[in-house]
Amino acid sequence: MKRNLTVLLLSRDAADGREMNRAFSSHSGVSVLMTSDDAEQLFTETMRLRPSAVVINLGHMGEPALKLVQRMKTDCPTTAVICASRDSSPDLILHSLRAGARDFIRLPISEEELNTVVDRTVEFCAQNVADEPKTRGKAIAVFSSKGGCGCSLIATNLALIQNTPTVLVDLNLQSGDLELMLGVRPKFSLADVVENRDRLDDALLASYLTHHSQNVALLAAPIKAESAEDIEPKHIYEVMELLRQRYQTVIVDTPHSFDAATISALDNCDQILVVLTLEIHAIRSTRRALEIFDRLGYSRKKIRLVVNRWSKNVELDQRQVEGFLGDRVLGFIQSDYRAAVNSINLGQPMVLSAPTSKATSDLRQISAKLFDGKVEPAPAGSESKRSFNSIFRRQAPQIEDFGLTAALERANLGEAQ
Ligand SMILES: Nc1ncnc2c1ncn2[C@@H]1O[C@H](COP(=O)(O)OP(=O)(O)O)[C@@H](O)[C@H]1O
Ligand SMILES: [Mg+2]
Repeated sequence: MKRNLTVLLLSRDAADGREMNRAFSSHSGVSVLMTSDDAEQLFTETMRLRPSAVVINLGHMGEPALKLVQRMKTDCPTTAVICASRDSSPDLILHSLRAGARDFIRLPISEEELNTVVDRTVEFCAQNVADEPKTRGKAIAVFSSKGGCGCSLIATNLALIQNTPTVLVDLNLQSGDLELMLGVRPKFSLADVVENRDRLDDALLASYLTHHSQNVALLAAPIKAESAEDIEPKHIYEVMELLRQRYQTVIVDTPHSFDAATISALDNCDQILVVLTLEIHAIRSTRRALEIFDRLGYSRKKIRLVVNRWSKNVELDQRQVEGFLGDRVLGFIQSDYRAAVNSINLGQPMVLSAPTSKATSDLRQISAKLFDGKVEPAPAGSESKRSFNSIFRRQAPQIEDFGLTAALERANLGEAQ
């Protein structure tokens, strides 16, 4: 991966801003990502893009400039703060260094000084890379073998529940719709990340994401469906790896198929949240999906089942479903048609638009179990697929189950033959 320095520039004075831009852009090892005259915008973009350096023109700014230097140093310690000024009095240089600047450059910028500052910044960044803990974020795929079970809704809400930097990946390459669910308008997508993967550094990667809130960013599906054709499964694996190196949590909304790109993403996830609804088609195709996961060599610990759109009107016993699927259910999300549809129409995920709803609290519980590892013990008698028939024979349904029990039995017998 090529390591270009990425730089943001701040200057209240427009002519100085142009001069700074000209000088830094002329250096082959530097990419100028933005030139701004607004300190707040510079700070926000620095937090978002994590550039190698910010260059702050102290002219026309006075004391607030030094406060900004201090804030940058504390909140974004991996970015080198470089002060610039036409006034190069020892007093000003001393004050800026005391505030936390790593370097000082005089305006107008001479080529020699520029080279020295760039070399020193490269050294600073190399040291940061050496000091970086080699951690990998947790990756969770949300999958269902049938469309309409609620994968996209669950993936989106789970991302918003996290308090740590989280990226949500829309792997529905031909028909992504997470931007609608988040109410954002992506300018870039997975296709840009894949196309530029050989020159990606942290800042460039971050610039291809669409930021929803402080912690949540979206890696959108390709904006033009045809650009999805160039994306190969190995690219998906590489992109997942890059994201995991940079973000604490990666949540992938997957298509409802076992195509090579999806499997590549599933391979590079710690867990797969398999979503189903209590309909015979969904239950049966979930069982087939679990068999495919077995064949792919995934450990059952990697799989977590979630029942969505649950309603007390369909009280199929949890043990019956677990017995049929041979796995326990991590959680149930209540059906709430109004909250779900409103959230999608408003582009405001349920955790924001219906924070007190039961469905939201169900989602929060599932998130806690997934991310804090709080998994409740399996109910007795649900351990194995083999016990399916005996469980069904022992427990005649006490409640209205809309024929599901019989349908499950038929499904089971049908497959056994
Ligand atoms: N808990 C829920 N209660 C009611 N409706 C839901 C719930 N979860 C999802 N839905 C609805 O189901 C439909 C499909 O959801 P979506 O997330 O797009 O599914 P998928 O991505 O699996 O195809 C949407 O119209 C959504 O409003
Ligand atoms: Mg979807």
